Amino acid sequence: MSARQTRHRWPAAAAQSRASAASAASAASAASAPSAAAGPSAAAPARAASAASAASAPSAAAVAAVDLRNVGFSYPHAERPALEGVTALIPTGGVTAILGPNGSGKSTLLHLLLGLLQAQQGSVLVEGRPQGSYSRRELSQRVGLVPQNETLVFELSVLEYTLLGRAPYLDLLALPHEEDRAVAWEALESVGIAGLAYRPVTSLSGGEKQLATVARALAQAPAVLLLDEPTSHLDLANARRVLQVMAGLRAQGRTILWTTHDPNAASAIASDILLMRQGRVIAQGPLAEVLTGERLTETYGVPVRVIDNGGRPLVLVHE
Ligand SMILES: Nc1ncnc2c1ncn2[C@@H]1O[C@H](COP(=O)(O)OP(=O)(O)OP(=O)(O)O)[C@@H](O)[C@H]1O
Ligand SMILES: [Mg+2]
Repeated sequence: MSARQTRHRWPAAAAQSRASAASAASAASAASAPSAAAGPSAAAPARAASAASAASAPSAAAVAAVDLRNVGFSYPHAERPALEGVTALIPTGGVTAILGPNGSGKSTLLHLLLGLLQAQQGSVLVEGRPQGSYSRRELSQRVGLVPQNETLVFELSVLEYTLLGRAPYLDLLALPHEEDRAVAWEALESVGIAGLAYRPVTSLSGGEKQLATVARALAQAPAVLLLDEPTSHLDLANARRVLQVMAGLRAQGRTILWTTHDPNAASAIASDILLMRQGRVIAQGPLAEVLTGERLTETYGVPVRVIDNGGRPLVLVHE
C-alpha cells in the first residue's frame, strides 16, 4: 500500500468517514484493539463518545498511546539528568496536560517522544510498539509536535508552511495534491488564520506564528499530538480557540499530550494530568485526583489553593 493510500485526513469530515467505516467493525475488536496497525482510528468512535461526554473521565484504553518505562535522559555535559526514572502512561484518546516548573523536563520529554532525542535509559512505547521500531516516516504519521519555540526563517507563505505538515504522506519529491491543500486550508481555518495564508511566515507576529505551527501540526494529522505551551503567545480569544481545537480533536478520539504553565487551561480540557519536577514525575492520573492544592504546592514550591468550580478544579495562585 502506498503512502498516499494509507494517509488520512484529520479534520471533521475525515473523522466522520473514519467513524462510520469503523462502526461496521465489531465492537469487541474495536474495544480491545491491541494492534498498532488498527491504531486509534479504528477505536475512535467508542472513545469519542466517552471523551465528548466526560472530559474528566480517566481514559483507560487497552493500549496506551505512549508508555514510558523508567526513562532517563541527560544532555551532554549536564550536571543532572533532564529526565530520571520517568514512568508514565498516556491514555489513548485522552488529553493529558504536563505541568511543572521551568526546567523540569517537559520539552525534553516531548522531544524524546518525537524521536528528536533518544532515551539513554528505560523504554518508550508508542501505540504499543517500541519507538525505535518505527521508521522516521511512520513515526511522523503517528506523532506530531507543536514546538515551544520555532524560528521560522524560510520565505514560505503560511499556506506553504502548513503544507509541510503533509510531508509524511507524500512520496519523495512529490508535490502536495489537491487533497493535501484542502487539509491545509481546513487546518488554517480551524485556527482562524486562513486570511494570512499568502503572507510570508517571517512577517507574522509571535502569536500568529504560534497559530501557524498549530495549523501545520493539524495538517500532519498525527494520532498522537504533542503541543509544547501552544498558547503561550496567544491572546485570550486565540488561546480559547486553540483549546477548543484541542477539545475537538479529543472528541475525534485523538490523543493529546501538551505542556502548559496555566493549570486552569489544563483544568478546562484535560482528562489527565502529569506533574513533573526536576526531571521526575511527581504524580500522574485523572484531573480531579492530581490537580489538587497539595500536589501543586509540592510541584511548584509555592502555596496553591484549588477550589471546585462547577465540577472542575479552579486553581488560585495569587492570593
Ligand atoms: N539543549 C540542551 N542542552 C543542555 N541542557 C538542556 C538543553 N535543553 C534543556 N536543557 C536542560 O534540561 C532541563 C530540562 O529542560 P526542558 O527544556 O525540558 O524543561 P521544561 O520543563 O520544558 O522548561 P520550561 O517550562 O522552561 O519550558 C533543564 O535543566 C534545561 O536547562
Ligand atoms: Mg519547555
